[in-house]
Amino acid sequence: MIPKANYHSRPVFEEEVAQLFGRGWQFVALRSELARDRDYVTVDHAGAAIVVQNFKGELHAFQNICSHRFNRIQLGERGNRMLLCGYHGWNFDKTGFPFGLPKRDQFLGKDNDRLCLTRYPVDTCGEFVFVDRGGGTVTLNEHLGGFGAVLEEMGGYLGPETQFAGVPHAANWKLLVENVLECYHCSTVHQETFVPWGVGKLPIDDARFDSGHSSAHFPRQDQPREELRLRYLSHLKERAFDHNSFFHIYVFPNLFVSSSQGLSFYVGQLLPEGPERTLLRMRNFEPRVDLSPKHRARQDPISADSNAMSLRLIEEDRAVLEQIQRGIHLADAPGAIGDDEIRIRDFHRHYAHAMAGGVEPVLQAAE
Ligand code: FES
Ligand SMILES: [Fe+2]
Repeated sequence: MIPKANYHSRPVFEEEVAQLFGRGWQFVALRSELARDRDYVTVDHAGAAIVVQNFKGELHAFQNICSHRFNRIQLGERGNRMLLCGYHGWNFDKTGFPFGLPKRDQFLGKDNDRLCLTRYPVDTCGEFVFVDRGGGTVTLNEHLGGFGAVLEEMGGYLGPETQFAGVPHAANWKLLVENVLECYHCSTVHQETFVPWGVGKLPIDDARFDSGHSSAHFPRQDQPREELRLRYLSHLKERAFDHNSFFHIYVFPNLFVSSSQGLSFYVGQLLPEGPERTLLRMRNFEPRVDLSPKHRARQDPISADSNAMSLRLIEEDRAVLEQIQRGIHLADAPGAIGDDEIRIRDFHRHYAHAMAGGVEPVLQAAE
């Protein structure tokens, strides 16, 4: 188990920022959000403000803080505009250099590099865009291990985005991770959401692990009136990904991707803000299927329901996680992990490994 103090200690949080989030490959955005020239996505990511922007088809990432007098450059979470600072009008190019600036003679001279924005290397895996916060020694491919192919495949299933939201949690980021690595809690916490859909009773299936990332299927049981439900969803029967489960992937340290029977998809992004504060940025997607106008009219309310359900699920979890955050200050028992929580064990192992700077750790059996 991870020591309980690691869930609320400020020095540990700062160490996590340095070792886990402030270095190496971090998920930042989806390609679909950055498809057109000038599209951008910003993310306040553990001690950095990052902007990823499309420059005539090329993706580049920078610190989203102006190199003149430190104004924030792109103000939205995402949008479409030049990389133009709104304070004195410096306009940055794809190298991070201010190619357009009023009264340029006052600034341009011998050492123009100091006027450049800090750059972050960008790489993509299918639909998923990552930046390298530095200090790492591996390529994105190496970082993702066997899950590179899984992410690439999942990205191909995503259709139109149907929801984009941020949900603040008064809880440590690791509690959000542990919560989604098991569905043991589903039959108690998600009585109104997962249970009526048929997930939560059967044991975890097909758990896979590689390089700190993991995936599993949470199998589904057919529900009363299943036939009727299938008929109602028949316009999606040509979808490319069809499985009778909730399929969940965790990419260390900050990305969740899940599929609900291939009928809807979720991408969750963890943004730790403090030892006891985490922002969950979430996106939902329909499956990639060509729909006639008649089927589009049928799908729209289904997507609206699925979005409402997704927010409700997150709220059900958030309420518990915030209780756990309070409880962990007081806990005096060692804690326990069951077979259905096996992905948590793997997360703890990889966390300890990464916090030790990639050195094989000596794990405590229990705290
Ligand atoms: S602070 Fe950005 S142009 Fe001055
Ligand atoms: Fe949950």
